Amino acid sequence: MSNRFPENFLFGSASAAYQVEGAYQEDGKGLSIWDEWVKLPGKTFQGTNGDVATDHYHRVEEDIALMKEMGLKAYRFSISWTRILPEGRGRIERKGLEFYHKLIDGLLENGIEPVVTIYHWDLPLALQKEYGGWEDRKIVEDFTAFAKILFDEFHKKVKYWIVLNEPNIFTQLGYFMALHPPGIKDMGMYLKTYHHTALVHAYVVKLFKEKGYEGKIGSSIAYTPGYAKTEDEKDVEAQRRYYETVNHYIMDIYFKGKYPSWGYAYFNERGLAPKILPEDEKVLVESAKMTDFIGINYYQSATLAYNGEDGIGVSDFNVSGEKGNFRESGIPGLYRQVYNEKLKYTDWDWAIDPDGLRYALVEISERFGKPILISENGMGAFDEVSEGKVQDGYRIDYIREHIKACYDAIGEGVDLMGYCTWSFTDLLSWLNGYQKRYGFVFVDFEKEDLPRIRKDSFYFYQDVIKTNGENC
Ligand code: BG6
Repeated sequence: MSNRFPENFLFGSASAAYQVEGAYQEDGKGLSIWDEWVKLPGKTFQGTNGDVATDHYHRVEEDIALMKEMGLKAYRFSISWTRILPEGRGRIERKGLEFYHKLIDGLLENGIEPVVTIYHWDLPLALQKEYGGWEDRKIVEDFTAFAKILFDEFHKKVKYWIVLNEPNIFTQLGYFMALHPPGIKDMGMYLKTYHHTALVHAYVVKLFKEKGYEGKIGSSIAYTPGYAKTEDEKDVEAQRRYYETVNHYIMDIYFKGKYPSWGYAYFNERGLAPKILPEDEKVLVESAKMTDFIGINYYQSATLAYNGEDGIGVSDFNVSGEKGNFRESGIPGLYRQVYNEKLKYTDWDWAIDPDGLRYALVEISERFGKPILISENGMGAFDEVSEGKVQDGYRIDYIREHIKACYDAIGEGVDLMGYCTWSFTDLLSWLNGYQKRYGFVFVDFEKEDLPRIRKDSFYFYQDVIKTNGENC
C-alpha cells in the first residue's frame, strides 16, 4: 500500500472509564448508574462488573509505557463524571481531576495525543435518582456545567474533545431494549432521551466555541450502514426506512440540526416523536455548524429486508459468544435486519464488513461535508495465551482490512482525521463480561495482579504506525 495517510493522521486506540479504571469507590468517587446496575441480578454476563476492571486507575503509568512502546499517536479515553463531581453537580473532587492530569501529562510526555470523551455512559446515580437523568431537560444544565469544568481544567493540554459516546446506543439500550440502565422499554422515551442528548451536544459545543477554547470538538455516533437484502422494491424500501428512522435520524440532528422529515413524521404520527421547542431548533442548527468533526464508531453493517406491520420486533442479541445465534430483529412496518450470507461473522455474530466502513465514510462525508474521526473499530474475540503468546491473527486481519478501507475512503475524498481501534488493553464489555476481548494487550483477569501480555496484533499495529500505514 503506498502512502496516502496524511503525516498527522491519528493512528490511535480507545477505552472508556468504566471499562478500564476500576477503583470505583476510591479517592472520593461517587456512584454512577453502572455501579448500581451491575449489582442487580441477571443484568450483565455472569454478573461481571467494573469494580476493578483492568485496574487502569492504579496502573496508568504501566499502560502508558505500553502505548509508548507501540508508538500510539492518539489515545482516546473517557472521564468518569463522578470522579470529578461525586454527586453529579456542585462539589468538585480534586483527586479526580488530578488522576486525569496524571494520565494526560503521561500521554503528552510520550508524544501521544489525548482524545477526551466527556461522557461514555457512566451517568451520576444521583442525577438518575433525582430527575431521571436523560429523561429530563435538566440534564443539559448539569452536563454543560460538568463539561465547563473539564474545559477550564484541561483545555491547554487537550486538543480533541468528544462530547458524547454513542448516544444512539445508550438511549436505545437504556430506554428501548431495557438492557442498560435504567432498563426501560418505551420507544417514545428512547426518542425523547435521544433528543436530550442532541441538545447536550449542541449546548456543550456552543459553550466550547463561545468561550474560545482551542481545539476540536465533536461527538461519536455508532454508525451501521445498511444494504437492501435484494433488489426487490420492498427490500429497497426497507433500507430507505432504516436510513430515515435510524441512520439519518441519529446523524442529522447532530450534524445538520434537523431530523429527516420522513423519519420524524413517522414517529410523530404515532405519538412517539420528541417535542422540539423553538429554542431547540436554533441551538441545534447553530451548533451543528460549529461542530468540528464527526466521530464514528464502526463495527459492522446491517442487511435489511421487508418487515410487515405484523412482522418481527426487536430481539436480544448474542452475549455469550456462542456463534451461530444470529437472530433477526426489526421494527414492524419499517425493516428487519437479516443474516448476510456474503459476510463472515464474529463469535458474537457481528458481521465483519470492511467495505461497509468505506461506504459509511463516503456517505457521511458526502452528506455532512465534515472531517471524520473513527473513534472505535475492532473485533471482539476469545483470545488464548499459549506459551506466553496470544496469536490473534483474526484480529490482525480485521484491523488490516479496515485500515485499507480508510485508505480507500481517503482516496475517494473523505477527510479522515484518524483511526482509533477498540481497544488498547482488553477491558470489560458492558454486557459480555471479560471474555469478549478487543485489545492489543491481553489482560489476564484470572490472576490477581492482572498481568499485561502483548498480543501479535500489538506488533502488527506498531509497524502500521511506524510506517504511517504503509505496512498494512
Ligand atoms: C461500543 C462502545 O458500543 O462498542 C464500547 O462504545 C463497547 O464501550 C464497544 O465496549 C464494543 O461493544 P461490546 O458490546 O462488544 O463490548
